[in-house]
Amino acid sequence: MSTVRFLTGITTSGTPHLGNYVGSIRPAVRASLTPGVESFYFLADYHALIKIDEPARIQRSTLEIAASWLAAGLDPSHVTFYRQSDVPEIPELTWFLTCVTGKGVLNRAHAYKASVDKNTAAGVDPDADVTAGLFMYPVLMGADILMFNAHKVPVGRDQIQHIEMARDMAASFNHRYGEHFVPPQAEIEESVATLPGLDGRKMSKSYDNTIPLFSSREQLKKLIAGIKTDSRAPGEPKDTEGSALFQIYQAFASEEETATLRQAYARGIAWGDAKALLFERIDQEIAPMRAAYEDYMAHPEKVEALLLAGAKKARAIATPFMAQLRSAVGLRGLGSAVQTKSDKSSKATLAAFKQYREKDGLFYFKLVDTAGAVLLQSKGFESPKVAGQAIAQLQREGAAGIAALQAQLETLGSEAQTRAVQALTALAEATDAK
Ligand code: TRP
Repeated sequence: MSTVRFLTGITTSGTPHLGNYVGSIRPAVRASLTPGVESFYFLADYHALIKIDEPARIQRSTLEIAASWLAAGLDPSHVTFYRQSDVPEIPELTWFLTCVTGKGVLNRAHAYKASVDKNTAAGVDPDADVTAGLFMYPVLMGADILMFNAHKVPVGRDQIQHIEMARDMAASFNHRYGEHFVPPQAEIEESVATLPGLDGRKMSKSYDNTIPLFSSREQLKKLIAGIKTDSRAPGEPKDTEGSALFQIYQAFASEEETATLRQAYARGIAWGDAKALLFERIDQEIAPMRAAYEDYMAHPEKVEALLLAGAKKARAIATPFMAQLRSAVGLRGLGSAVQTKSDKSSKATLAAFKQYREKDGLFYFKLVDTAGAVLLQSKGFESPKVAGQAIAQLQREGAAGIAALQAQLETLGSEAQTRAVQALTALAEATDAK
């Protein structure tokens, strides 16, 4: 069975609001329940350091966001739910990717460019107040994604460029070191609207126009009363177009409920009554989660335990994968088989093993000659370690190894097989000749 891996992160820089819920938390929780999907959700706290220098706020936001996901129905036994900073392999991979990413590519990243453009317009140094963290942000994000070889990354439109950069990083790493990474794809949910905030602009922390996802009934009512409307009196027909109140209602209501409100607008419903309807409709969806949220907020140790268990699950993948990557780039122990010739020059004259991972989640290798012809092709292995052991056996035993591993190899015909034996012999000689 082939599973598709979804992965997404939320930066721990603030309190989740209704816009986050409608745009990201709710669709992600729904997606996590789809069969055949393996989901990774994480709290991007390293990312938060780029914008936030208030330690207490980062800690609080981490708790609030984790509690919101859990209260909204994310089942941590079903998905991998973790905190980025609990997986030290991620910053390690960030460095590997940094070394295969062009600086010019990062110069063009939207977030960095926006700062530079702003500075230039203000007539100050283009890099004024720009940290290297902001500049490197796409690489950290690339590591988040490639660490788990995610196929699909559900994100907003503003993040598409980062996914494309992650694809480029995967390709340039693979080109240098063999097939290790799967190129990820952005998954844009067209149907998920961006929610307007209290003032009608996009609901966003930076506009200070948000409605927190979890506030008390009283607070929620008060905030909804503050949604901007026009000055039409009760009895006057009202426009649904451009009405923030209507759009927010639509994000929570069924089609029939929305149609009913549309009629009420046409018949001139009073704004106060429309706000009361909106309040009840939102509260109906949020109320059942509120108790769970408050329970998690009152017991942060429960959330901590869930996150640590999630990190353990994540590292069961990240640790062996990182070991494979370390070896691939040449960060190797000196205990065995130190190669005197560079891999590059032996690649030029000999065949080489390439290890990679397929969409089915299994680990494969092939032996390819300098012209790119495949001499041996493995079947799928459960882990990179087992695949590596098979390669080691082939390198040690040559033809005998091929015979012993028959069941794990595809049949490629006798010519390929003969050339494979020759190539293995040549490889063994090259290693012995040091
Ligand atoms: N940068 C994303 C945002 O601001 C959050 C994020 C960090 C992310 N790492 C990620 C999203 C990896 C998807 C995949 O929204």
